[in-house]
Amino acid sequence: MTLWGGRFTQKLDDLAWALNASLPVDQRMAIQDVDGSLAWADAIHKAGILSDEEHASLSLGLDTVRKEFASGQFIFQPSDEDIHTAVERRLGELIGAAAGKLHTGRSRNDQVATDFRLWMLQTIPDLLSAFHLLQTALVEQAELAGETVMPGYTHLQRAQPILLAHWWLSHFWALRRDVERLQDLTKRVSVLPLGSGALAGAPFALDRDALAKSLGFADVSQNSLDAVSDRDFAAEYLFVCSMAAVHLSKLAEQIVLFTTAEFGFFELSDAFSTGSSLMPQKKNPDVFELTRGKAGTLIGLLTGLMSTLKGLPSAYDKDLQEDKAPVFAATDALLSILPVMAGALRTIAAKPERMRGAIDSTMMATDLADYLVAKGAPFREAHSLAGKVVRAAGEKNVSLEKMPLEAYQAISPVFEADVYQAFDPLESINKRNTVGGASLQSVRMQIAECKMQNSR
Ligand code: ARG
Repeated sequence: MTLWGGRFTQKLDDLAWALNASLPVDQRMAIQDVDGSLAWADAIHKAGILSDEEHASLSLGLDTVRKEFASGQFIFQPSDEDIHTAVERRLGELIGAAAGKLHTGRSRNDQVATDFRLWMLQTIPDLLSAFHLLQTALVEQAELAGETVMPGYTHLQRAQPILLAHWWLSHFWALRRDVERLQDLTKRVSVLPLGSGALAGAPFALDRDALAKSLGFADVSQNSLDAVSDRDFAAEYLFVCSMAAVHLSKLAEQIVLFTTAEFGFFELSDAFSTGSSLMPQKKNPDVFELTRGKAGTLIGLLTGLMSTLKGLPSAYDKDLQEDKAPVFAATDALLSILPVMAGALRTIAAKPERMRGAIDSTMMATDLADYLVAKGAPFREAHSLAGKVVRAAGEKNVSLEKMPLEAYQAISPVFEADVYQAFDPLESINKRNTVGGASLQSVRMQIAECKMQNSR
């Protein structure tokens, strides 16, 4: 059965039919399609299109269809072109000719947009929970890290000492923004297109506000042409997913680096590492590499949909059928990596001695400049003098903390015996006591803030 065909004398070519059909993808919105139809039956009943008996019969039939989907008993037929057709076909089998009244005033154009938005509204909470789990793991690691110090990097070069907790939390905030974006997106998804018809609206008095309310939408669309063609919400969803995947990829990349023998900062638990079929000694961070890899896939999905949308004439075009597969794929990808990342992060063992050992005193050269500034030198001059100290130490092949005081004083008489205090990493860290800064106190405040953010 197709929902069209009156004007056709020939049946659709088999291959064209297969290309046109979208059931393999859109059957994922079965429950949403039935719920939309139940609400639609109520709305057109109120508008006087359905008699009480017809309404009761349609509602009962749709309830049965819903139960069949929920219990996995629904049987699709080869002739079902899409989920909308499948539901209406089954409804006809259950209640007979009255099923034919359900589609009055409705088009698959406003119907599919409604299903898709409903599906997304119901999926966003799953994503939010998965983010929450990962953010909790990050906060737990930050707490566990205590006063562990590590080299902070810029350009992947040792820069200044920081606390490991500070590093863990830097990833918390990136994910926090992803969560905010998802929450904010909800208001643009929660706009009801139903009642827009194919493109021009419904030809009878329809209470769209009541319809929106009954389906849990916050708003109704204000332009029927826009409503059936708007897929901004899908593109935005893909962007939010891609941005999150990029954040996860950056985190994953650093963990891959930190577990190498060269860094040796982290050890992965066996439960989240994989071996090599050839090299018996290998312990590979596949979980993190796959996370990094999925980011590429997600960016591709976003780019694909954006390209589909570009240049479409008003209002609905069949190209729009390409909208759901990328959204489903992105969702599945993200929901497959978020919980695994959470589990893997939670079981990472940090190696404080390795991290401390990677901090050399040249990383405190800025503190040396700050030392001179505290003694009255302008920063520019202090920066240059500290640079000279670094060069002198290099030439003498000693670390800054081992270089004799005379060598310091040869560069500037301002240096005194207390200069060596500048080389304690924790001292250096604790000097940076600004909000968001490196100090233990700042980081403790940050942990408290993260916990609060994560509890909302
Ligand atoms: N399967 C279609 C989609 O996903 C449903 C809308 C079809 N509309 C139409 N006029 N053929 O976009």
